[in-house]
Amino acid sequence: MAVWRLILNHPENKMMNTWRALAVLWLACFCRGTTSCPALCTCFPQKAEVICSEVPLTDFPSEGLPENTTILTIQFTNITSISEQHLNSVPLLQQLHLYRNRLQSLPSHLLRGVPFLHTLDLTENKLTELPVDVFSHAPLRSLVLKNNLIENADAEWLPENSSLTWLDLSGNRLTKVPAALLQNVPHLEILDLSNNHLERISRSSLDSLTKLQKLDLDNNKLDTLDESTFQNTHSLIHLFLAQNKLNSLPKNLFQNLTQLRNLNLDDNQLSHIPPGSLDPLHSLDEQGIDLTSNPWLCNRKLQYLWSWLQKNTKKAYLPDSITCSSQLLAGRSVMSLTESELNTDS
Ligand SMILES: *[C@@H]1O[C@H](CO)[C@@H](O)[C@H](O)[C@H]1NC(C)=O
Ligand SMILES: *[C@@H]1O[C@H](CO)[C@@H](O)[C@H](O)[C@H]1NC(C)=O
Ligand SMILES: *[C@@H]1O[C@H](CO)[C@@H](O)[C@H](O)[C@H]1NC(C)=O
Ligand SMILES: *[C@@H]1O[C@H](CO)[C@@H](O)[C@H](O)[C@H]1NC(C)=O
Repeated sequence: MAVWRLILNHPENKMMNTWRALAVLWLACFCRGTTSCPALCTCFPQKAEVICSEVPLTDFPSEGLPENTTILTIQFTNITSISEQHLNSVPLLQQLHLYRNRLQSLPSHLLRGVPFLHTLDLTENKLTELPVDVFSHAPLRSLVLKNNLIENADAEWLPENSSLTWLDLSGNRLTKVPAALLQNVPHLEILDLSNNHLERISRSSLDSLTKLQKLDLDNNKLDTLDESTFQNTHSLIHLFLAQNKLNSLPKNLFQNLTQLRNLNLDDNQLSHIPPGSLDPLHSLDEQGIDLTSNPWLCNRKLQYLWSWLQKNTKKAYLPDSITCSSQLLAGRSVMSLTESELNTDS
């Protein structure tokens, strides 16, 4: 101790220590300064944003990531994994965009170190099964899992009462609507399940989604819907059911969809529509309903649709392209038929 004090108190040594301290300080400033950025990436310090795009990365670019990064984009690279530890280096992260990489799986508790993350985009990776709590911990509002290989979407991915308002699971391999998962997202406003293999929507699956405004079910394999499917989704504005195999609709299916502005039913197997079923749709936009590309059977049973179209021509998308499939009238526009032409049983 005494020796050290002596040396330290010596004027020359004091000087040296000061220089050394200054050098350390200068180095520290330099390393943490504006020049810090991972190799192969571009950093925008003013916006606290980092972008690594179309570069030969194979691992998460931990080295040199600015600590204050709030937006991180890694896209068109060859990274195959991402971990909780990787994200611990960017504790202020708000948006993470991982579009088109080679991620095959994600770990449990991935988001434990990023308490401000609200947007996570995993579009076009190779994700199949995901573990419990993979999206827990962060206050996510937007979660995009579009174009992966997911067969089951589990309730345990998310905490109860998750803050998600936008969930995109389109372009995966789902065969049923993830009813249990939807119980955990009562604040959801946009749900995209298009381009999957959905065969049915089990009763009450959508009942917790009272805030839902947009539901996309295009391009699935739905052939029937339960009358109560949309009983609680009072806020729906856009409903897309095109490119399915729907061959009939229950009479009261749309009863509670009084806010609906767009309804796409094109490219299904509908031959008629139950009397009164479109009446609750007070809010349809001009050209807001698409009924084209269905095999309409132009007989007595189609009278409701015929007269609805007379009264609401402007609300139909390409009304002249809603055509009959029945032998005698094949190709004729439903609108153009006379009452006596419709008055047949065949
Ligand atoms: C983030 O940190 C860098 C380097 O420390 C700094 O230059 C930049 O201004 C900071 N950005 C924001 C948005 O705070
Ligand atoms: C990813 O790896 C493949 C070969 O496996 C290579 O052809 C491609 O250029 C790599 N992508 C990038 C962005 O480096
Ligand atoms: C659910 O979360 C919202 C805020 O996101 C909060 O206001 C509400 O009290 C929570 N409800 C329950 C049952 O925890
Ligand atoms: C419409 O909503 C009311 C009240 O929420 C409910 O009692 C009724 O069953 C719903 N109708 C349909 C067909 O879903």
